[in-house]
Amino acid sequence: MYTSKITGLGHYVPENVVTNDDLSKLMDTNDAWIQERTGIQERRHIKKGDGNSTSVMGVKAATIALEEAKLKPDDIDMIVFATLSPDMYFPGGGVEVQEMMNMRTIPALDVRNQCSGFVYAMSVADQFVKTGMYKNILVIGSENHSGGLDFTTRGRSVSVIFGDGAGAAVVSRSDDKGENGILSTHLHSEGKHKDELSLQGPSTEYWVPEIIEKNPQEDIPYYPYMNGQFVFKHAIVRFTEVIHEGLKANGLSVEDIDMLIPHQANLRISQFIQQKLKLSDDQVFNNIQKYGNTTAASIPIALSEAHKAGKIKKGDLVVLAAFGSGFTWGSVIVRW
Ligand code: COA
Repeated sequence: MYTSKITGLGHYVPENVVTNDDLSKLMDTNDAWIQERTGIQERRHIKKGDGNSTSVMGVKAATIALEEAKLKPDDIDMIVFATLSPDMYFPGGGVEVQEMMNMRTIPALDVRNQCSGFVYAMSVADQFVKTGMYKNILVIGSENHSGGLDFTTRGRSVSVIFGDGAGAAVVSRSDDKGENGILSTHLHSEGKHKDELSLQGPSTEYWVPEIIEKNPQEDIPYYPYMNGQFVFKHAIVRFTEVIHEGLKANGLSVEDIDMLIPHQANLRISQFIQQKLKLSDDQVFNNIQKYGNTTAASIPIALSEAHKAGKIKKGDLVVLAAFGSGFTWGSVIVRW
């Protein structure tokens, strides 16, 4: 078995800043409610005509990650692209990245695990590198939420939370024979809660003509549904479980964590986990205040920002953890 490690990170968010006050002009909400419940102060939204899309933002983040890894597009052996908001229903974003970055005819795999998407994608990349099949894998998490949210009062409990953006990581075979690199990944799912955070149509259950026929005021399966309190309760349990699971698998404990990067679901969820694990403010990185919840993009954006801000040093134990729609959850344990 080979060792795999993260050799490059990059992130990109659209320039268009949308504050809580901006949202309060569209719906019955206010800055105090949003900050109190979620910690979010602002988020980024793609602006019509700014040239961005899920795949385009993914390419922008990936370009920075490749530069950091000192690699050219030709050096990449596989793309793993995580999103719940692809540019097209099919094909997925991976092939768009392959085309836009002018890559060889390498495999492009799309991962559909919503907020856990990046952790699942990292796990896939880790396995391909560790077995020796590929040397350099580009992992991208990117989301364009703003195009598909209900910005009326009806959709306020969901639409104030989510933002647009992309992050990317290069996972490479490591020459170090030491203990640095991705130590392990841990993935889970529990489909019985699939409806609690879901977008039902358009899909094979809700074909487009059927949606058009229905009165959109009564039946709106094409907007996301979220049972907020139910999601919150499960998130705090699963986050802590899967962090402990990852640490235990490596003979480590919570005291060994130098940096926890939780999926930026909600600042209250991150604070709850921090408190439960008794971690200091320096041991947990949050940026949801600026970007909202960017689903599959949230961990790579946060990881890239934390790394560029010098908050992650060689030898640090970095833990990535996610929970989201499915429900799915997972963790990645990295010795930097
Ligand atoms: N602005 C103002 N009021 C709002 C609002 C908004 N954006 N959204 C909902 N409300 C109202 C509700 O209509 C409700 O009003 P009512 O009491 O008159 O019926 C009230 O606020 C409380 O709603 P509730 O849904 O009980 O609030 P909450 O305390 O559970 O907070 C969430 C809602 C969504 C912030 C919270 O449940 C949460 O963060 N859940 C986890 C979500 C998450 O992390 N999702 C991503 C998972 S990956």
